[in-house]
Amino acid sequence: MTPVDKSGTFTLGGDRSARRLGYGAMQLAGPGVFGPPKDPEAALAVLREAVASGVNHIDTSDFYGPHVTNHLIRKALHPYADDLIIVTKIGARRGADGSWQPAFSAKELTEAVHDNLRNLGLNVIDVVNLRSMFGIHGPGEGSIEEPLSALAELQRKGLVRHIGLSNVTPAQIEEGRRICKIVCVQNHYNVAQRADDVLIDKLARRGIAYVPFFPLGGFTPLQSSGLSDVARRLGATSMQVALAWLLRRAHNILLIPGTSSIAHLRENLAAAELDLPEDAVIALDRIGAHTSAAA
Ligand SMILES: NC(=O)c1ccc[n+]([C@@H]2O[C@H](COP(=O)([O-])OP(=O)(O)OC[C@H]3O[C@@H](n4cnc5c(N)ncnc54)[C@H](OP(=O)(O)O)[C@@H]3O)[C@@H](O)[C@H]2O)c1
Repeated sequence: MTPVDKSGTFTLGGDRSARRLGYGAMQLAGPGVFGPPKDPEAALAVLREAVASGVNHIDTSDFYGPHVTNHLIRKALHPYADDLIIVTKIGARRGADGSWQPAFSAKELTEAVHDNLRNLGLNVIDVVNLRSMFGIHGPGEGSIEEPLSALAELQRKGLVRHIGLSNVTPAQIEEGRRICKIVCVQNHYNVAQRADDVLIDKLARRGIAYVPFFPLGGFTPLQSSGLSDVARRLGATSMQVALAWLLRRAHNILLIPGTSSIAHLRENLAAAELDLPEDAVIALDRIGAHTSAAA
């Protein structure tokens, strides 16, 4: 039994069982998620250590690098274990200057799925998230019917097993569910950023996974005296407490913390073994309470 086993499992789409503590590969690309990493061997070692430690859910995208994280995943882990779930996302492309640009036409989405298949060395991708680009600093309203229908067509052709949505509003999820089965939603959420509180519980009732991006705060990792107080008391680190809080928050939450460091990876995976006492949970709940839509 690995620490990761203690995080429990959640079944994506009724047939792919993901351990709830997974790994997000974005940090493996170069600075600004652009270009190759400084130390490619270290990046490969992080991926191999994650899987050896029991991680069977890896989040990636061909626009990380671009292509860099997918090439690293393939080099480190191909041929893949049967239970490994690789989740990618499409809907953006990178400019020559590293900028992030929408790539939402049927043609661009089809090319993106084929790029992911080729770069990962797969015949079918377990889950593809359509990443909405309507909002600048968060989800923005706008119809996803056309791009999602294009992705559903690729699913019908057998290139994609399951479909998820990312950076979306509740209205877009409802629209999406009328077009195809949605197995997961990937939005910005962590102990200090809880705008999706109501949404998470609604998705849990429907058997849909919620996969928070920036679970540790993203490019500027979380800093909070509330977090460090609890961490000190439990003999853990703030990052472990932040992850343990998410694991406890709802059974449909799947974690994909990102790191380029083996030491941080080990620290993060050990969070599955951290039990939060009730008074710690109450203190942690207060950190982002003012950001919660449920407040
Ligand atoms: N759908 C979307 O729009 C979207 C957007 C962003 C990200 N994502 C996905 O979500 C995943 C997670 O997001 P993320 O990697 O951006 O953010 P994150 O997991 O919240 O945090 C990553 C940052 O925390 C640092 N870190 C990790 N573990 C640490 C530890 N134990 N102690 C101290 N610092 C630590 C990392 O630096 P080190 O490398 O030095 O450890 C990195 O700077 C990504 O890998 C990606 O797959 C999706």
